[in-house]
Amino acid sequence: MSSVAGRHRHAQAPPPPTTPLLPMTTTTPYQPARLRGFLADLTRLVAEETAEAALLERGQALLAELVRHDDWLAEPYALPSPVRYQQYLLYADPLERFSVVSFVWGPGQQTPIHNHTVWGLIGVLRGAELSQPFARGADGRWRPQGPMHRLEPGAVEAVSPTIGDVHRVSNALADRPSVSIHVYGANIGAVHRSVFLEDGAEKPFISGYSNATLPNVWDRSREAAATASQPQ
Ligand code: FE2
Repeated sequence: MSSVAGRHRHAQAPPPPTTPLLPMTTTTPYQPARLRGFLADLTRLVAEETAEAALLERGQALLAELVRHDDWLAEPYALPSPVRYQQYLLYADPLERFSVVSFVWGPGQQTPIHNHTVWGLIGVLRGAELSQPFARGADGRWRPQGPMHRLEPGAVEAVSPTIGDVHRVSNALADRPSVSIHVYGANIGAVHRSVFLEDGAEKPFISGYSNATLPNVWDRSREAAATASQPQ
């Protein structure tokens, strides 16, 4: 594990957007169709692609396109808590081949050092995020492996037991929340995984989710009405 922990994959700088990143504002129409389309694309992807490298590459492109726009995440799934970072489930594949969550960071909040045990994709939607990979040394202690990555909106990185699975993540911003969208190769809230202390101690954990209900991306009636009312 330690020999690969530093090899987190990064997107190169995201391709120049064809339209600017759109912050959610009261004047920006809510576009749940973006998430619905992303979920359809992911469902096709996990059905078609079993090789991890190819799956991550294609999934990275899909997630980069999703987080290029900030007009589709309903507000209850972007609310920070003063107590700790929030992990809201947005969708879980019925076969638990993947799940999609919004991670919401209050100012200054961070995770402990942790693993995932499955592949994961992390895309920043709002604010900025810091990710520090860790590797376990011969003495059993965990130490930072390579530089800390700062992810700005639109950026996507990947983790997995194959390419590097242990890191600590934090809100890069001290004065406002940040939001990132994560995709994992399992129902991540139910996965048995670990938190690590720097002295090498390991604590098992199952993250669960911060929300009890999911966003409704399936009601297309208002989208249809909005489209119909617009001049053609
Ligand atoms: Fe993580």
